[in-house]
Amino acid sequence: MADNEEHDAIDDLLLEQRKFAPTDSFKKQTLIAGTHLYDEANQDYEAFWARQADELVSWDTKWNRICEWELPYSKWFVGGRLNVSYNCLDRHVLAGKGDKVAFYFEGEPGDTRTITYSDLLGEVQKFSNVLKSLGVVKGDRVNIYLPMIPEAAVAMLACARIGAAHSVVFGGFSAQALADRINDAEAKVLITADGGWRRGDVFPLKQQADEAVATTPTIEHVVVVRRGNNAVTMKPGRDHWYHDLMVAADPVCVAEPMDSEQLLFLLYTSGTTGKPKGIMHTTGGYLTHVSYTHKYVFDLHPEKDIFWCTADVGWITGHSYIVYGPLANGATQVMYEGVPNFPANDRMWQIIEKYKVTIFYTAPTAIRTYMKWGTEAPGKHDLSSLRLLGSVGEPINPEAWMWYREHIGSNKCPIVDTWWQTETGGIMISPLPGATTLKPGSATFALPGIGAEVVDDAGVTVLKGGGYLTLTHPWPGMLRGIWGDAERYQETYWSRFAGRYFAGDGAKLDDEGYLWLLGRVDDVMNVSGHRISTTEVESALVSHPSVAEAAVVGANDSTTGQAIIAYVTLVTGKEVDEQVLRNHVATEIGAIAKPKTIYFTPDLPKTRSGKIMRRLLRDVAEGRNLGDTTTLADANVVLELQKRIADAPSED
Ligand code: WT7
Repeated sequence: MADNEEHDAIDDLLLEQRKFAPTDSFKKQTLIAGTHLYDEANQDYEAFWARQADELVSWDTKWNRICEWELPYSKWFVGGRLNVSYNCLDRHVLAGKGDKVAFYFEGEPGDTRTITYSDLLGEVQKFSNVLKSLGVVKGDRVNIYLPMIPEAAVAMLACARIGAAHSVVFGGFSAQALADRINDAEAKVLITADGGWRRGDVFPLKQQADEAVATTPTIEHVVVVRRGNNAVTMKPGRDHWYHDLMVAADPVCVAEPMDSEQLLFLLYTSGTTGKPKGIMHTTGGYLTHVSYTHKYVFDLHPEKDIFWCTADVGWITGHSYIVYGPLANGATQVMYEGVPNFPANDRMWQIIEKYKVTIFYTAPTAIRTYMKWGTEAPGKHDLSSLRLLGSVGEPINPEAWMWYREHIGSNKCPIVDTWWQTETGGIMISPLPGATTLKPGSATFALPGIGAEVVDDAGVTVLKGGGYLTLTHPWPGMLRGIWGDAERYQETYWSRFAGRYFAGDGAKLDDEGYLWLLGRVDDVMNVSGHRISTTEVESALVSHPSVAEAAVVGANDSTTGQAIIAYVTLVTGKEVDEQVLRNHVATEIGAIAKPKTIYFTPDLPKTRSGKIMRRLLRDVAEGRNLGDTTTLADANVVLELQKRIADAPSED
């Protein structure tokens, strides 16, 4: 038996049996209640995508080939011409929807702005002319380093309008991170702000930008949006206030049709190791993919829905589901600048109540934080406008899913757990909320038009049990490469399994064919020959009522190869004994997965996008010096942990 188990790429331990079918009332209004989209896409996925491109996107010139696929490079809607900014703005205004609200902006200090599609089109045209006046031409790269304010969307759409590629760098990144990304992309112009609001204070963005630009020879101009009203130094000739340039700008800039494969943007992913990769996304295929997924995964009714995606525009989630997908679909959205606990823990719920948000899309890390804070904050607000919830970024533990369903969704909203990556451009694996019976913690099935399979170490398809998640054929939103590094593109995604895209994630299939994501394969632990996913042990821990969040790592162990070490954050005000939790894991998923040691901690080290940094927790567990900590959101969290562990009584 043990012999046999060693052949499993990843063990399958967790059994989740709860199921939630779409309710009758949800089904009555849903766009897709049956399986016809799956059937259609299974017949001919290229034809399926062509129909989406036809229906959802406006083209100046129609394509002559749907897809050209020369592994590992794909081109979509070849020969087609379109303008993304036209698709997101002009066509809605031309259709008489200029007065429709595009964004309800809520600043962290409580200031608000209501921006219609006409307003946005006006701003974007002017800013397109500003970029041109600064010498930006089609094919150039423009860097954007802004807080979560509407000008971020304006800047992105203005680039798209004139055919310049944007490279957005999250406003919480350091000057060094910004400089590295500007230099890799060789950007000509940087768009930033004086400062932005975060937890009641202004963070000095321009100061970081100045430090970065000191080492970026390609930057000719810096445009500065006034937001924080903090003091800044403006370098004459190089730095310009956004509002000064906008007053002087010509209000008309006609959207120029671009080739379907024109570079739309670069977005850098740092991953866990190595130099950040400039992920390349192009025009026609990307827009088709994000419009389609935004419409059907979120069951969008643009006349009625108020959509709120809580991501920052600095991440792919913000690109695809704040800017391009929702605007192409003519949606009305909420955009919020700040943190969820300013001025108090109920800010998100207060915003949902205020704007009557109907669709709320957030990350498991946020949900677990709300769990830790308790049910009082959401309980204070009327959340009855919500009809659909979404999750993205990490596997969502079944118990976090149940908490989200009960305390935010009043047990009536479907939850779409959406698996995808910066590289995939848009959602790949997700329920269709009116058609799919949900299981808490499962992203369910590949969407119509997407091919996903789990394979074993030898690349053989697995029909039940654990293995590696692969994508079997090209899709319109797929990355077109890594900027300036073709070899790394081939090596990272296309070399592990012949003919397949390897996502780097583990996954398992249950006996009904549902997909369960198991986290990054680099994090899989090897305990006495068992390949155990961190996700499953974490979910077992989170299923204890006292536990809000858990991070699990494998640390070197002389007897078992690796031993399971768990870091656990408790729900505020709840306590539990380490031994109780160890036994709880044993009963939930088996003795083999019982953590050797559990450390309690008020916080876990996370990246700035909210992913747990298990690599650092391994360093801590094995008593090593910390490796690269530059992508860490709060370095104090690990330092604090190191101290606690050093102070803890030794077991041996
Ligand atoms: C990685 C991609 C997709 C936009 C945000 C993150 C993990 C993402 C899920 C999910 C389990 C998920 C994967 C993936 N991930 N969504 N629903 N269930 N894992 O984009 O920073 O490029 O990260 O996030 O590990 O590979 P990203």
